[in-house]
Order: sequence, then C-alpha cells, then structure tokens
Amino acid sequence: MATPRDSYHDPVLLEEITALLVRKPGIYVDGTLGGGGHSLGILRALQAAGHAGGSLLIGIDQDDEALRSAAEKLSEFAGRAVLVQGNFQEIEEIIRRVAAEKGLRPKAEGILLDLGVSSFQIDTPERGFSYLRQGPLDMRMDRGATLSARELVNTLDEGELARIIFRYGEEPRSRSISRAIVRHREKNGEIETTEELASIIRAICGRDTVIKTLSRVFQALRIEVNRELEVLREALLGGIASLDDGGRMAVISYHSLEDRIVKTIFADQARSDWGPKGVGLREPVTKGIISQVTRKPMLATPEEISLNPRARSAKLRVIEKLYEGRSA
Ligand SMILES: C[S@@+](CC[C@H](N)C(=O)[O-])C[C@H]1O[C@@H](n2cnc3c(N)ncnc32)[C@H](O)[C@@H]1O
Repeated sequence: MATPRDSYHDPVLLEEITALLVRKPGIYVDGTLGGGGHSLGILRALQAAGHAGGSLLIGIDQDDEALRSAAEKLSEFAGRAVLVQGNFQEIEEIIRRVAAEKGLRPKAEGILLDLGVSSFQIDTPERGFSYLRQGPLDMRMDRGATLSARELVNTLDEGELARIIFRYGEEPRSRSISRAIVRHREKNGEIETTEELASIIRAICGRDTVIKTLSRVFQALRIEVNRELEVLREALLGGIASLDDGGRMAVISYHSLEDRIVKTIFADQARSDWGPKGVGLREPVTKGIISQVTRKPMLATPEEISLNPRARSAKLRVIEKLYEGRSA
C-alpha cells in the first residue's frame, strides 16, 4: 500500500478561502477533505478568531487514504472535527446525521468544495490517474466502487468511448482515439495499465498535441469513472440547502466543465423571477435564495502559482445564503 508523502497536497487559495468563509462560530463542512490542508486552515482561523469553542468541522472524502492522512494532520483538533468517508453528493444527509449525533442544528455556516483529484492521488502510481506513472488503469477515488477505468476502456464500444472522450475531455480526435483503443484490444487483449493506454494514444498523435490529448483522455475517463459532474450538481444544491441564513459556500474548480456547472447553478439559485414584464408585481414570483459574493471567479496570484503550479487553473466562486425574506 502506498504511504502518503509528507506533503499530501498543497491547499489552493487558502488565505482567500479562510477570509471569505470563516466569520462566525458554527458548522463548517469541507466536502473534499483530501490531506486536510484547507480544513486545518479553517480550524486555525476559527481558533484565531475565538470561534473554536462553538464550532465543528465536518470533513468528507470518498477516499479512505485521504481520511487517514487528514486525521493525522488534524490531530491537534481531534475533538473539533468529525471525518466521514462518503460522497459529497450526500452532503445534506451527512450534515444532518453528524449534527444529530452532536446535538446541533443541521445548518452550516461554511462549506468548501475543492474539486477534482489531490496531488497525492495523481502522484500515486497504484491509483492509475496519471499517464506519467505506470500503474493499473484504475482512477477510482472511492476504492470500494466497482467501476474502474479498466472496465470502461475494455468493455465500452467505439461509439460510447468516443462520446465520453469528446464530452468530458473536449478532445476533437475522440473518434480516432476510440477506434485505436478498440482495435488494440481486439488484437492484443485487455488494456491493463496507464502506460499501455498512453502508448496507444501516443501512436496516433503528433508530437505537438500528444500531451494535451493524453491529459484530455485521462480527464474524460476519470470524470466518467467517478461521475464527477453528476455528483457536483447534487452537491451544490444539497450544500445550498444545508447553509444557515448568511452562511457561505466556496467552490474551487479546475476545468471549464466543472466551472460551467458551478456558475450556472449559482446564477440560477441567485435569480429572482419577476414574471412577465409590465405586470408590476411588488414581490417576485420566485425569490433567489443566494447572493454571489464573487461576481467573477477569484484566481490565484502569480506568487501562489509559482509555488504551486496546480493553482494555475483554479477558479474560486463563493455564494452566501440569503436570510428568509431578503431577495437577490
Ligand atoms: C483537490 S483534492 C482536495 C484537497 C484538499 N482541499 C486539501 O487541502 O488537501 C479533492 C479531494 O476530494 C475528494 N473528492 C472528489 N470528489 C469527491 C466526492 N464526490 N465526494 C467525496 N470526496 C470527493 C478526492 O478524493 C480528493 O481527496
């Protein structure tokens, strides 16, 4: 079994997130606990503001290795943090359950989702996320899940594979790539490793496009294996429903497919509908239930990017739950 490195994952936009989220005592939820870097920042900020006493952090991750590593990192706050293995798709139920166990109101003051995979997952060859590391074609964040990338690559037909590579990788050569994959497995049997898949892709790509194509195909398979976009929609709506009045949710996305979903759901939930023009209603037909704290996504500074290249593609969006009766 792989042992976590010392530096499991450098948290992105940490100062910005703690400054925007941590304002009052209450329940804080880190839906993507990873190595616990953001959670540690949130707990320290609560302590520095004198809010630690009335606060609880709920850390969620579907990866058992992440939970082990985060438990170590957060050991100084053991009594103030509850770590749960689960999918953030179930954020509402998890908050309700933990709050009931602790005798708290099931409403969160702050929620964070730092999407995608951690550096640890990417850098661990046995997890099979990276075309740069020789390992089994796996890509499951939840190691108890049944569907892996190996299953997809070896059982889907050419059309289904092409659709996934096009939709989730936005790869223009999706058809020729899926044709090459299917031909390869017909001739040589199952494709078992990241290196085997990468070499099939390399064989049909020009030198100038190969890196982009490899990362797009690997991204597409990862998204499909973990149903990343589907669960994100549910987590955003469940998270908003779980926020206390005035509570905030922060989401960091790393590619345009994720960011588009976050942007659209936030805009929808913020919009009030005033019905047809000219009717002159005093109240909207439906009221927006959140306001957007960040009109445009916040990006990492050049200094942060120079220290942590992963921050380059990060986009942070933050919303605030409105008080009943206050419209967007
Ligand atoms: C970018 S990392 C988070 C790193 C973390 N912020 C830190 O400071 O170490 C994303 C983490 O979220 C987890 N994750 C991704 N999607 C998830 C989901 N649907 N449910 C639960 N955990 C998820 C991954 O397993 C991974 O550990």
